Amino acid sequence: MQATIPAGLDRKEAEVYRQLDPERLPKHIAIIMDGNGRWARRRHLPRMAGHRAGVASVRSTVETAARIGIPWLTLYAFSEENWKKRPRSEVDFLMGLLCRYLKAEVPTLNKNNIRLEYIGRQHELPPMVQEKMAWAREATAANTGMVLTLALNYSARTELVDAFRSIVDAAARNGGLDHLEIDEDAVSQNLYTRHLPDPDLVVRTSGEMRLSNFLLWQLAYAEIYVTPTLWPEFRGLQLLEGIAEYQKRERRYGGLADHAPHAHGSHPHPSKTGRS
Ligand code: FPP
Repeated sequence: MQATIPAGLDRKEAEVYRQLDPERLPKHIAIIMDGNGRWARRRHLPRMAGHRAGVASVRSTVETAARIGIPWLTLYAFSEENWKKRPRSEVDFLMGLLCRYLKAEVPTLNKNNIRLEYIGRQHELPPMVQEKMAWAREATAANTGMVLTLALNYSARTELVDAFRSIVDAAARNGGLDHLEIDEDAVSQNLYTRHLPDPDLVVRTSGEMRLSNFLLWQLAYAEIYVTPTLWPEFRGLQLLEGIAEYQKRERRYGGLADHAPHAHGSHPHPSKTGRS
C-alpha cells in the first residue's frame, strides 16, 4: 500500500519518505550539528557566516521532523566546551544568533504545534539569553506536538555530575544516606532529559566519528548515523535519508535478532537486556 505523504514535504523529501515504513520511524532523534566553520572556510567566509547559514538548516530539519510526526527532536547547539574554549567574539555572536532565532521562530514553532525545551546548565548563560529562552519556552508551552529540545551549554559529564549531586542531596534531605539506593531509573530521572525517552537515532554531520560529550548515558543503545554533509547544507531531506539508513539497521538491545521484542523503534527497557 502506498504510504500517505505528510503535507508540506517537497518533491525530493516525498521521494525518500515513500521508501520509509511510517510505523518504524525513530521516536527520538538527536543531532550533533557540526561543520559550520568548515563550510565557511571553504567559501573564504568568516566562521560566523557558517553559523548564520546553520540556522536555515535548523529550521528545515525541525519542520520536516514535525511534519512526519517525530515526537522528540534534540539538537546539540552549544556545548559547555564551546562556551569555554571559543573566542569571546564567536560566543557572543552565537548568543545573539540564538536570541534572534528564538524571537523569529516562535510563530513557526506554534504553527507547527512544537514545544520548546532546553537541556544544559542554563543558569551559567547570560541573564538576557536566559530571559529570551524562558520567554520562548513559555510561548510554546501549550503545544502538544513535537518536543524540540535545544542543548545549550550542555555537557554529558556535567549532566551526570549534576544528577549524582541531586540524588545525594535528595537523600540527605529525606533521612540521610543510610538507605540511599541508586538504580538506573534513579539516574535517568535526575538527568536534564527526564522529560525525554532515550534517543533511537543520533545523527552527526560533517563526518566526525565522535559523540563529543553528548547524551552519553542516553545514547547507550542509539543507532549512530554519520553523514559527510556539513551542517549548513543539511536539510529535511538529509534527515529523511538518515531515517532511511536507520530503518535498514537491526536493533537488538543485547538480545538475539529473532527474539528482539521491537526490531526498530523505542524499547521500553533496553538496559535490562544486556549489551549489543
Ligand atoms: C558546530 O560547527 C556548530 C556550532 C558550535 C554551533 C551550532 C549553531 C548553529 C547550528 C546555529 C544556531 C543554532 C540555533 C539553535 C539557533 P563548528 O563551528 O564546530 O564547525 P567546524 O567544526 O567546522 O569548525
